[in-house]
Amino acid sequence: MDWTDKKILVGVTGSIAIFKACELVSQIRQKGAQVWVLATRGACQLVSPLTFRALSAREPLIDLFAHGPSPLPHITAADWGDAFVIAPATGHIIAKLAAGLADDPVSTVALSWNRPIILAPAMETKMWDHPATQENVQKLKQRGAIIVGPEEGWLASGKKGTGRMASLERILDALKTILFPRRDLEGWKVVVTAGATREPMDPIRFLSNRSSGKMGCAVAEVAHQRGAQVILVAGHMDRDPPTGVSLRKAETAQQMLSQVLSLTDWFDVLIATAAVSDFTFEPATGKITRTSAPMTVTLYPTADILKEVRKRRPDAFLVGFAAETGDPIQRARQKLQEKGLDLIVANDVTRPDSGFGTETNLCHFLFSDGTLESLPLLRKREVAEILWDRIAQRRHHHFCASQEKTGASSTESL
Ligand SMILES: Cc1cc2nc3c(=O)[nH]c(=O)nc-3n(C[C@H](O)[C@H](O)[C@H](O)COP(=O)(O)O)c2cc1C
Repeated sequence: MDWTDKKILVGVTGSIAIFKACELVSQIRQKGAQVWVLATRGACQLVSPLTFRALSAREPLIDLFAHGPSPLPHITAADWGDAFVIAPATGHIIAKLAAGLADDPVSTVALSWNRPIILAPAMETKMWDHPATQENVQKLKQRGAIIVGPEEGWLASGKKGTGRMASLERILDALKTILFPRRDLEGWKVVVTAGATREPMDPIRFLSNRSSGKMGCAVAEVAHQRGAQVILVAGHMDRDPPTGVSLRKAETAQQMLSQVLSLTDWFDVLIATAAVSDFTFEPATGKITRTSAPMTVTLYPTADILKEVRKRRPDAFLVGFAAETGDPIQRARQKLQEKGLDLIVANDVTRPDSGFGTETNLCHFLFSDGTLESLPLLRKREVAEILWDRIAQRRHHHFCASQEKTGASSTESL
């Protein structure tokens, strides 16, 4: 990717996370791109504009009404930029953007900007959780804003919680999707399952697992950004679904099966990342009460979604995810054959840096032709990018083969 001469607007606002924006500006410049910093008064209270001037080699825009080279600096800036990122984005700037206010360089350029804007919110958990902030974020997402983070972790108050600005890596990734858009999945219809199912035991208890939905959301987000139409069938997830994908909720394994089966005539590719319960209960109608004697409950097996789909769609490209605790490859190879998959992604969920809830995954791709590709430890988004690369590479071969099998003459689809 050649960043040379790409023009990036970096809006900075009055969050303590602004010290990371200095590094962001420096990293963008080191890639060869040009940076123009736009700063609010709050931002200038926390970091001197001189710092940004030195790091970006350009005079930051801090006052729309000061005498400068441009008579309409907000319009000049909006026309100049190839991408616009606000990092950190305070609760205040998010509220202003949602309301369409324009009374400082960042919000005024944002109102003059008619392409997707990237926001990296940073604030204390109470500010982030506030209904006003949440409503504003939803509004901005609906208008196409790309919200990166915030993440969970240590905050300036000394507390731990959600509100930490996303890592620079994630912000740079978001910039890449704007600067170097790939549309190689244009026309594809994709269903992704994600998150954990919940099997009710009685009206208040359920059997579930630790899946966070992060891997599935990354797979869905990348497919959408590369041009596919994506439906996300989601169980319980720790995060919001990505912008631009259609959402279908499924609480139990049975509901997830029904949702997926209702789409079997629609999709070309199904990626099953959800951790679907293998067992369910005959749920009690009332709350099960404590007894002094030990209790036995019966677990019933649930249907295998991928097997059911394969029966109905011998031609679709099916990808399973196998979360394993022993030798992930051996068990995954067995599942690949049993379920008739085209590809299975195996990962060892006992590692602290891979599997449920983590930001990274250590994955092995096993293809139906016996090929094995073991990836290094990568962020889930990177795994998703490689996954789509591999599916796109195999797509043509797969469809020619399946059409020969079914005797179809058309080569459209996907
Ligand atoms: C030291 C300090 C740190 C702050 N950190 C944050 C922050 O991380 N996130 C936030 O939303 N507001 C933070 N604020 C509050 C904002 O600076 C304040 O809401 C301000 O009006 C934001 O204006 P701006 O968005 O125009 O820069 C902080 C204030 C101070 C004094």
